[in-house]
Amino acid sequence: MDLVFATNNKNKVKEIKVLLPPSIKILTLSEIGCEEEIEETENTIEGNAKLKANYITEKYGYDCFADDTGLEVDALNGAPGVYSARYAGENVTYEDNVQKMLQEMKGKTDRKSQFRTTIALNLNGEQYLFEGVCRGEITTEKYGNDGFGYDPIFKPVGFKQTFAEMDLNEKGKISHRGLAVQKLIHFLKENLK
Ligand code: IMP
Repeated sequence: MDLVFATNNKNKVKEIKVLLPPSIKILTLSEIGCEEEIEETENTIEGNAKLKANYITEKYGYDCFADDTGLEVDALNGAPGVYSARYAGENVTYEDNVQKMLQEMKGKTDRKSQFRTTIALNLNGEQYLFEGVCRGEITTEKYGNDGFGYDPIFKPVGFKQTFAEMDLNEKGKISHRGLAVQKLIHFLKENLK
């Protein structure tokens, strides 16, 4: 089956393609001719995932899923959360956000945090939500070159490496998005028999 993944983030597409069975073909936004930016105007992760999935289903008529992710840091009362992409300001790079986080966390001993992903799936006129959480800690400096976003400064519980030091398969087994996608895949397999 064809299913739109409401993103143009190549890292996310790569991560999800390694987890999906070959029977599910992922189409990205540019592949369905959606070139416009879908503005994430909601103030929750779940709200933004729903907003993106609904935009595509309503405007383009496709069954579709969308994800939204936030990094929630305990010592920052859950910030940056839904604002993770804009933590250092509008139109910033991943590096800007990483540097801001390292700065904000300077000297803090409680470095516990979590990534949280919600996936909203629109299928045959119904909407379903799937969540994945990965607990870990913010490191005091950057480690590794793989991945994206906050990966070089996030070390998941039980591991010695950051996400940026893991390969895609390894990250996918334990990551927030990987866990949410595993729930999505389980659901699709059960419901598309
Ligand atoms: P998005 O809105 O789902 O694209 O995610 C918001 C921000 O969270 C992104 O700009 C990234 O900085 C960060 N992010 C999302 N997923 C990951 C991940 O798997 N690793 C590291 N950072 C991530």
